[in-house]
Amino acid sequence: MDALVIHGGRKLNGRVAISGAKNAALPVMAATLLMPGVHRLRNVPQLLDTHTFAKVLEVLGAKVRFDKNECVIDTTQADKVEAPYDLVRTMRASIYVLGPLLARLGAARVSLPGGCAWGPRPVNLHLTGLAALGAQLDIDHGYITGQNVKLHGGNFHFDVVSVGATAQVMMAATLAEGTTVLENVAVEPDITVLGDVLNACGARIEGLNTRRLTIHGVKSLQPIDTTIIPDRIEAATFAAAAAMTGGSITLERVIPAHFEAALAKLEETGCVVVRESDEVTITGPSRPRAADVTTMVYPGFPTDMQAQMIAVAAIANGTSVITDTIYVDRFTHVPELSRMGANIELKGNVAIVRGVDRLSGAPVMATDLRASAALALAALVAEGETHISRIYHLDRGYEAFDAKLTALGARVERVRE
Ligand code: UD1
Repeated sequence: MDALVIHGGRKLNGRVAISGAKNAALPVMAATLLMPGVHRLRNVPQLLDTHTFAKVLEVLGAKVRFDKNECVIDTTQADKVEAPYDLVRTMRASIYVLGPLLARLGAARVSLPGGCAWGPRPVNLHLTGLAALGAQLDIDHGYITGQNVKLHGGNFHFDVVSVGATAQVMMAATLAEGTTVLENVAVEPDITVLGDVLNACGARIEGLNTRRLTIHGVKSLQPIDTTIIPDRIEAATFAAAAAMTGGSITLERVIPAHFEAALAKLEETGCVVVRESDEVTITGPSRPRAADVTTMVYPGFPTDMQAQMIAVAAIANGTSVITDTIYVDRFTHVPELSRMGANIELKGNVAIVRGVDRLSGAPVMATDLRASAALALAALVAEGETHISRIYHLDRGYEAFDAKLTALGARVERVRE
């Protein structure tokens, strides 16, 4: 297993090219199962998660080839319906194959993903949403199973806004017979672009970027040819690095509107932000000011930036109250940051962060993807050396993170444990 060793104390300065978004790439990769043919996806980040998803597609009979960031997926022979536990348990997003399998093949056997590091993550809305389209699904020996399914249009109201369940049901509805109306859907960019990609293939999805989708089922779709959008969470993480180190970083190849909530919050901490059409320059203050944050569904402040924002607050001048309303248990980074000298009191889903003058390097453990990013950010400003073990979590979602940090002037080393 790899670890990162970071020597803190350097300002980060320069330009960094932001990679394609993992959370946008995964549902598009799943959508290739909706239509036989050869699909071309550009700007796919080279990550553990995208490679795991490629393996899921391969066990379903697809052929997947990566050439740097271009991913070519041939689903002509994809006629298998079982996504096994061994793969699904390593990556929850594997459940995305369920809807496309039911829509195209009328059958699926997909392992239930189980919980994750920050608590239970239910899939009830994926199942009830598909049931509204006529999919009778059973849970059998830990697998979600459907046979002889013929999807038809239906009406479904999501009682919680869910990115994953919206993508799941939207994909399935594109090939269902008749019209589907989905209410209270997610409007995260990952969802909107998935809809755009499907429409470019011949789907008839109306209402994208609103809370109500109307989907007229079509008989078949054309193969996908698309470029994955930039990763707004990676961009916001590097913006947080500028905020914490007091440096100036230009984020290249971004869509600034996609991470406006994070930029506005960092401005509140004293950062100066210059937005251009496809890049953002952010300059950190000598010390950030405290700022309260509550995570919300898009366009609110993303839960995927909560951990990194706690790292900013840990060294800010004053006390910040940081609340996660989306994932109330997502705080495994708190005890690790405390080991580096952060003063954080956790009350349920609310972290009260009293900013300290300095953090000190320590051996810490990455527990999940965004928690790892928060530890790396803290390490950038900590005195001395921080050894972050289990960095595979970071590798799941940040492409070439250590190389990008090094290019910005950080002292980072990847070591084998
Ligand atoms: C996606 C992102 C993840 C991000 C999350 C919230 C991917 C691969 N992952 O995860 O990085 O943190 O959105 O922005 O895109 N819920 C239910 N029942 C369900 C599904 C969800 O109650 O069937 C609840 C969840 O417990 C949570 C909320 O809905 O409280 C939002 O979760 P959801 O948007 O579904 O997250 P994911 O799609 O899994």
